[in-house]
Amino acid sequence: MTADLFAEDPGAARQPLGRHACLLRGFALGAVDELLTALATVQQASPLRHMVTPGGFTMSVATTNCGPLGWISDRRGYRYTAIDPAHGRAWPAMPESFMTLAREAAAAAGFDGFEPDACLINQYVPGARLSLHQDRDEADFGAPIVSVSLGMSATFQFGGLARTDPVTKVSLHHGDAVVWGGEDRLRFHGVMPLRGAPHPHPQLADRRINLTFRKAG
Ligand code: SIN
Ligand code: FE2
Repeated sequence: MTADLFAEDPGAARQPLGRHACLLRGFALGAVDELLTALATVQQASPLRHMVTPGGFTMSVATTNCGPLGWISDRRGYRYTAIDPAHGRAWPAMPESFMTLAREAAAAAGFDGFEPDACLINQYVPGARLSLHQDRDEADFGAPIVSVSLGMSATFQFGGLARTDPVTKVSLHHGDAVVWGGEDRLRFHGVMPLRGAPHPHPQLADRRINLTFRKAG
């Protein structure tokens, strides 16, 4: 997050959300078709499903993963696994297009050398939401989180290090990326219930897909 880096890329619309957090408006737009093709292959191998929280609630977002590790939730808790519990085989490989985008978004936000080993894929349909939480199931918090939005717009909530801290609301649109790491790595965040107009892309019309890249292991 240096002024020099910004100067090298004058076209990038980079909006700070914290000292080590920023929104990269439209960062993924050039990669959308490639990402959607790869996503279809991932979903065939490990379909989206509604996971159950440790408290017994069924999540409104539908979830799958790709990469060596995948995030899961069930009655036993939240954790990363190498195996998709839906069928007992490894999660599908992280597509090259996903990896490249994650590395480039991290670097654009000032985090060089990001090597994610997990990509959590969340699908939101109207009404689906993700309540305020921290990403803290990863083995160490040295690497940033890279989050990429596709399809319908959503209201992202970005809070502080305590659940009760004030929350900034940010509209996330198709192609936007958000990166948070360093001192912002454990900020609470969430997504308000999805509402509003369908997206013109035929594969994304009535839904929002979020790709969240992490270094989990
Ligand atoms: C997440 O926190 O895992 C997802 C955030 C989002 O959907 O924008
Ligand atoms: Fe999260």
